[in-house]
Amino acid sequence: MKTHRIALIPGDGIGKEVVPEAVKVLEAAAGGCGLAFETFDWGCEYCLRTGRMMPEEGLDQLRPFDAVLLGAIGHPSVPDHVSVRDLLLRIRFGFDLYVNLRPVEILPGLESPLKGKTADDIRMLFVRENSEGEYCGVGGRFKRGTADEVAVQQAVFTRKGVERVIRYAFERARKSPRKRLASATKSNALQFSMVLWDEVLRAAARDYPEVAVSIYHVDALAARMITNPESLDVVVASNLFGDILTDLGAALQGSLGLAASANLNPSGRLGPAVFEPVHGSAPDIAGRGIANPIAAIWTSALMMEHLGETAASERIMQALKAVTGEKKIRTPDLGGKSTTEEFAAAVIEKIHNASRAESAAG
Ligand code: NAD
Ligand code: IPM
Ligand code: MN
Repeated sequence: MKTHRIALIPGDGIGKEVVPEAVKVLEAAAGGCGLAFETFDWGCEYCLRTGRMMPEEGLDQLRPFDAVLLGAIGHPSVPDHVSVRDLLLRIRFGFDLYVNLRPVEILPGLESPLKGKTADDIRMLFVRENSEGEYCGVGGRFKRGTADEVAVQQAVFTRKGVERVIRYAFERARKSPRKRLASATKSNALQFSMVLWDEVLRAAARDYPEVAVSIYHVDALAARMITNPESLDVVVASNLFGDILTDLGAALQGSLGLAASANLNPSGRLGPAVFEPVHGSAPDIAGRGIANPIAAIWTSALMMEHLGETAASERIMQALKAVTGEKKIRTPDLGGKSTTEEFAAAVIEKIHNASRAESAAG
């Protein structure tokens, strides 16, 4: 029996509420494979205690694991630009996890807030650049606190960085049923970075004649997600554009509590892939046990798929869809009254029922 070693970083706020529930679901669905979890208490509380978001040698501690499951980072006690940079971005950049994969789909029984649009209309896969762009952290502040203050936040786009994420997106589009790729640009205003982005996209497109490519300025693409979502399939975007568009995608799904994501390095291994819901620590609802665990559970299914445990991944998704399809158990973000734990327990029950039915069948 293969045992996968999973590092858990629940983090802050609702991260600490949804990760334990996702772990229970993973344990129920694991089937033939073993899962060995180790929890790291890194995050804002750890920072208040130790002065750091994670240990200096934290990346070395994570490196031997097969995957990382992370909840959310952020608490009012630590400035967001510190907590995020010193933990989340440190891991993404440190392991060069240059693809952030974010599916946008409507689960059975749930409705998109878009009138008249169903699961058939809304099915997108965002491939977000995750290792450079606006997030590179290059810049500075000058004449701080004076009337002449200057802040420079440099965006860095490298040909290599742009090309690898665009090629990954083409690969995904090639394998997708509709074989369509949309690229988010803004080359009308950003004449260096986004013109390079478009050039690399057009050059890569020659190697994928079977993929239909559309280039949209990001503002128009945001509108298109609302007005014509059925025209979108795989979407590739820079780091910041992808961040913004995928919260919009989560809203199309019905809640930020639904959106899953995977941080991957498809071409090498500097460290384990990191799986995290798209949402943050939600301080406005943290501590009440009402966070929607769907994003974390769906994220766990992405993790199992990545680990080669396709059957376990499917067990999780089928159970998740069975529960949403019944429309009985819903957390408050979806208009229900159920708790985080009640929702996860319903998913686990579906997994158990399915495995009982399987063993009865033979
Ligand atoms: P957020 O995603 O935490 O919350 C936005 C809104 O969505 C809130 O009203 C919240 O209650 C709701 N929401 C989010 N997840 C939900 C869930 N699972 N169930 C029900 N409702 C949910 O974003 P924010 O308020 O902009 O940020 C809060 C903190 O989280 C900040 O510190 C921010 O830096 C951090 N953050 C971290 C991550 C991450 O760790 N990956 C992502 C985004 C934001
Ligand atoms: C996300 C988050 C992060 C991002 C923040 C917390 C830095 O919003 O994962 O979408 O912008 O990447
Ligand atoms: Mn975001």
